[in-house]
Amino acid sequence: MKCITLGLLASAVFAVALPAPRTVVSTQAGARAELQAVLSAVANAKRGARLFGACAGCHGLRAEGSAEQWTPALAGQHPSVVAKELVDYRYGIRWDFRMERVAASHVTPFAQDIADLAAYLGSLPPAPTGSFGDGEWVAQGRRLYTTLCVSCHGAEGGGSDARFVPRLAGQRYDYLLRQLHDVVDGRRPNMMAIHDSRLRKLDMEELNGLADYLSRLPRNDFNQRAVTGSTRTRR
Ligand code: HEC
Ligand code: HEC
Repeated sequence: MKCITLGLLASAVFAVALPAPRTVVSTQAGARAELQAVLSAVANAKRGARLFGACAGCHGLRAEGSAEQWTPALAGQHPSVVAKELVDYRYGIRWDFRMERVAASHVTPFAQDIADLAAYLGSLPPAPTGSFGDGEWVAQGRRLYTTLCVSCHGAEGGGSDARFVPRLAGQRYDYLLRQLHDVVDGRRPNMMAIHDSRLRKLDMEELNGLADYLSRLPRNDFNQRAVTGSTRTRR
């Protein structure tokens, strides 16, 4: 409890000023310990489905995300990634006032809850998001992805549960594009620095192409092709 209070205090400090080194250490250590507790819990996806009732209003009934709510698709995201992101919001390591509230310790209090939610979301087949770009820069996006991103996120954009690398294939275009800009603008502090160094060299069209390309990638591991909403430019 004391540790969580310290963590929240630390995130408040973080929001207004550069943190003192000790603050960062205690926040990171708290988050690491909590993530460990989540990962060692025996997850119950059925219980996660019930808990997801509190999330569906923003993330959609099938966890497909929403343009109006600015939310990502969560269906089929790796459990390790869902868990890490929730813990990061809770400790103020990733910023978003809505998710920081959702992930606060009095709302989602137990590591078990996060483990159950993550297991449920990981098991959900992807629902069509209906969110794609206009297709104009998809070819550039594909080239850039193959050179700059494929080594970690994988040839099919599937990421890795074991390495905490998010699945990007079939994620919403609107969400992806916002994340890419957020990285360059310094608003996604929990992303590996390699993102900033690679993405800041790209122009608007190239960022657009990356997001568009990824939003159209089919989810092969779920044996289902992405519904593009447009037959014009799959890749
Ligand atoms: C009030 C609206 C709202 C509610 C309720 C909500 N979310 Fe979110 N969620 C968001 C928004 C907005 C984002 C994107 C924030 C950002 O850009 O960092 C997000 C992002 C996330 C992410 C990060 C996904 C990624 O790909 O990195 C996860 C995981 C997540 N939410 C899980 C949940 C879970 C689980 C619940 C229910 C316990 C929930 N959310 C409830 C609005 C909401
Ligand atoms: C060295 C490995 C590595 C490389 C290279 C890399 N990524 Fe990532 N990426 C990650 C990891 C790990 C995360 C999860 C970060 C976190 O914990 O928030 C991530 C997160 C992301 C996210 C956030 C996903 C979400 O659901 O919110 C996006 C978008 C993304 N990467 C796009 C890219 C793009 C585009 C490139 C190429 C320009 C790229 N990445 C290159 C490892 C990498």
